[in-house]
Amino acid sequence: MKTYRIAVLVAAAVLCVSSAHAQKPKVVILATGGTIAGAALKPTDPGYKSGAVGVDVLIDAVPQLKDIADVSGEQIASIGSQDMNDEVWLKLAKRVNELLASPDVDGIAITHGTDTLEETSYFLHLVTKSDKPVVLTGSMRPSTAMSADGPLNIYNCVAIAADPQARGRGVLVLIDDDIHSAHDVIKRHTTDVATFTSGEAGLVGVSLFGAQTWYRTPAQVHTAKSEFTIAADQATLPRVDIIYAHANMSPDLITAAAVNGAKGIVIAGVGDGNMTAPAWTELQRVAKEGVVGVRSTRTNGGITRRNIEVNDDQGGTVASMELNPSKARVLLQLALLKTSDAKKIQDYFNRY
Ligand code: DGL
Repeated sequence: MKTYRIAVLVAAAVLCVSSAHAQKPKVVILATGGTIAGAALKPTDPGYKSGAVGVDVLIDAVPQLKDIADVSGEQIASIGSQDMNDEVWLKLAKRVNELLASPDVDGIAITHGTDTLEETSYFLHLVTKSDKPVVLTGSMRPSTAMSADGPLNIYNCVAIAADPQARGRGVLVLIDDDIHSAHDVIKRHTTDVATFTSGEAGLVGVSLFGAQTWYRTPAQVHTAKSEFTIAADQATLPRVDIIYAHANMSPDLITAAAVNGAKGIVIAGVGDGNMTAPAWTELQRVAKEGVVGVRSTRTNGGITRRNIEVNDDQGGTVASMELNPSKARVLLQLALLKTSDAKKIQDYFNRY
């Protein structure tokens, strides 16, 4: 009888362990560098080296991750995100889609610098071919800092990637307990921990120590429903330059962008996507030569619509709608893989 009882207890223990392990979602962390992987000499040192710490160190620094998910890590890059480039974007997109195609993977968490996080997240928002959660995070203080914000951001990021309710909301960004859509999030402050905002669109949700409250699902087209695909042999993206408008703006930089191979130009316009008359004349001229011009706004707020103070129909230009200049550049790069027809590109800007 005693042997039987021991056998039952051992079987129960094995079942508990295996069922607990079996119940945890599989989340893969893809690391690219940034401040979240940064290191300084002292906890109060404002200066630091970005991307100095590897993904395994980041995971080991948050032992509580194993309570919420079956986590593994891969190092995609180790760069400050000011150096983010097409090569890393394409490598990241291909790896995300490869992992999410596996039934064993429930979600992806990506650690990234905050400088260009709004661009990388929106790029993935447009080319990820799954509705499983893809969640990016970063930090404003290095991993070695007093009150480092990275560990809790990683914990919440993985919790969202493991959350079935995160599915179908597009690529998300978690920073400082806030859950943003990749479509709307922008960095608005050089050093503030709460540096990200989603403006008029607002948050998708919030996360408190890994427990999410959801507010909305973004309306625009994204991820599994997107028409944009990264081919296996895609090695580069079309060159698109952003030119900042200002008082007394010269047309020379527009000319220079076209001469240097830009296939598209985004104007970070004053007000509602405006620029000086000489600049507008030059943008229309290069449009006739096949360089697609998109009018966005340097204000980082509001919607830049067609034919308000200038006539886009006559100018052959595109209005960026809700997209700020950095996101308009991403959508224009992908649109140019399909067409250089301004009317077809405007349709993409109206829907994505
Ligand atoms: N070098 C910047 C970057 O990697 C630091 C900013 C940060 O990650 O918070 O984006």
